[in-house]
Amino acid sequence: MNQDDYKKQAAQAALDYIKPSLTDDTVIGVGTGSTTNFFIDFLGGCKSWFRAAVASSDDTAHRLRAHGIDVIDLNSAGPVAFYVDGADESNQHLQLIKGGGAALTREKIIAAVADEFICIADDSKLVDLLGGFPLPIEVVPMARSYVARQLVKLGGDPVYRDGVITDNGNVILDVHNLRILDPVALERDINQITGVVCNGLFAKRPADYLILGSAGGLKTIKA
Ligand code: 5RP
Repeated sequence: MNQDDYKKQAAQAALDYIKPSLTDDTVIGVGTGSTTNFFIDFLGGCKSWFRAAVASSDDTAHRLRAHGIDVIDLNSAGPVAFYVDGADESNQHLQLIKGGGAALTREKIIAAVADEFICIADDSKLVDLLGGFPLPIEVVPMARSYVARQLVKLGGDPVYRDGVITDNGNVILDVHNLRILDPVALERDINQITGVVCNGLFAKRPADYLILGSAGGLKTIKA
């Protein structure tokens, strides 16, 4: 078994978890990344069990449509029963770092809307302290240098993710060397820097359920 097998385990478990609740009206939010891609592939097998999906990125929308799943605009979706997405790190409180795939803003929006946020990952993503993975920040391009200077004042080392433009037309700064002792406070403080669109800390709205694939089988944590 390798890391992809653990991601698949978690993705299958997420589908098994939501399946009994699916109806013709259900809208499912779908995240972005390699673990979520496994979930999308499994979801394709039961596309007639729910109404539609909302996608957190253009890549995800494309993959969902390739499976014949209807992708709708969040503004006309009504309630979103579940949001299923991966993470770059999670702590025991299900506070996350996300954005390794540069989709953090749309991910955070769907997570905010969803009734239940199910995070899927391999067990290497579970950490005691967030910040080992560089924290992604989506920034309006003209504010990049200013935002970087403010992030240095907060104790981080921002690195421009060269060549990456988000689906919203912005750029990404990855902030290294943060020891994130208070994720809620840091998420709020970074959001207050002018020019920041979104940061990859999901602490104010953490996941509700974490499903981890591992060599020893599934591990789950409920908030
Ligand atoms: C994309 C994300 C992803 O969920 C995160 O990067 C994890 O990706 P993967 O499942 O490939 O490990 O936040 O913006």
